[in-house]
Amino acid sequence: MKLLVTGGAGFIGSNFILYWMKNYPQDRIVNLDNLTYAGNLENLKEVEKNPNYKFIHGNICNLNIVGEAMRGIDTVVHFAAESHVDRSILKPSDFIVTNVVGTQVLLDSALKHKVKRFHHISTDEVYGSLKLNDQSKFNERTNYNPNSPYSASKAGSDHLVKAYSETYGLPITITNCSNNFGPYQFPEKFIPLAITNILEDKKVPVYGDGLYVRDWLYVIDHCRAIDLVLNKGKVGETYLVGGMTDDISNLEVVKKILKIMGKPESFVEHVKDRLGHDRRYAVNWSKIEKELGWKPLHDFDEWLEKTIAWYKENEKWWKDVKSGDYKKYYQEQYGKL
Ligand code: NAD
Ligand code: DAU
Repeated sequence: MKLLVTGGAGFIGSNFILYWMKNYPQDRIVNLDNLTYAGNLENLKEVEKNPNYKFIHGNICNLNIVGEAMRGIDTVVHFAAESHVDRSILKPSDFIVTNVVGTQVLLDSALKHKVKRFHHISTDEVYGSLKLNDQSKFNERTNYNPNSPYSASKAGSDHLVKAYSETYGLPITITNCSNNFGPYQFPEKFIPLAITNILEDKKVPVYGDGLYVRDWLYVIDHCRAIDLVLNKGKVGETYLVGGMTDDISNLEVVKKILKIMGKPESFVEHVKDRLGHDRRYAVNWSKIEKELGWKPLHDFDEWLEKTIAWYKENEKWWKDVKSGDYKKYYQEQYGKL
């Protein structure tokens, strides 16, 4: 099989390529990525010389480059996106261009090249926000209700993918998954930001009261879910993918990290809240469990500890990405370095 992976130099995309090449060494992978601030070829050192792996440096909005990349492809796995909510609040336009227009360019090309499967990676954030202290969870029938420019742009891309399935018969599948964590996550996201700040002896910015809830999923469990959907999923279907945490607040997450790293709780710094901050996410993943036999296998506490160990062992990786433009972003977002 020949796969086109878009955004394969990012956090989840690179974990997916490493996972896939280990489990399906006979398959060929083309990675199309335009290496934004979030793309990093260091993540893929292990496979860069593998003859079954090819990197194309290009933008998913460019029809010619996409056409080139799509040649001979059986399966598209579409990760490429602007993915950070805070950046979408600072500058929404990049999100609309990449996440909506870029997805449409890929869909057109996939249709033209008659790919056998277009798998779209989406997010639980398209469903909006749940109330604190209640049992509700998102499921495949939950209405779309996105609240940030990021989630609105992802909702737009989901709708386009479904429209290409209904209108043109493009064989699609979609996964909407919860917050991933693990190696190679860019340290603008909460968990790697907390870990690397602590390693630098800096405080951890916690938005507002810190009582926001996310559903945490170890990145390899996400890769396993995509694998199953590609191999056994029903064309046209959407599957929700979530983790093993039970309503854990951001404050509790930081306290766990501080405890593992042997630092006091005075490292928590409450800062100005995110605009339009969604209170709670929780995912009901019973459909993918019942239909495809998937469930998360990586326990949060154990893999949080392993993730912390990874950042400790890979100081050069995160120090390199925390320089230059990152500093400008941090200053703009948090008002200090
Ligand atoms: P990321 O920001 O780490 O990586 C995104 C990658 O896409 C980068 O390599 C970047 O260079 C590339 N890219 C961006 N714009 C591009 C363009 N115009 N053309 C080509 N490449 C481009 O993101 P991530 O956290 O790995 O997320 C991957 C996907 O998973 C996204 O679609 C995101 O919406 C979705 N998702 C992420 C999470 C999460 O917790 N991180 C959860 C649910 C869904
Ligand atoms: O739910 C899936 C989504 O998870 C993905 O679609 C997104 O691509 C991914 O970035 C993530 O979005 P979140 O906004 O939930 O993740 P983030 O790591 O930015 O924030 C997690 C929580 O931590 C959220 O409640 C905001 C809070 N936070 C975040 C940062 C960066 C803080 O309190 N302080 C911070 O400095």
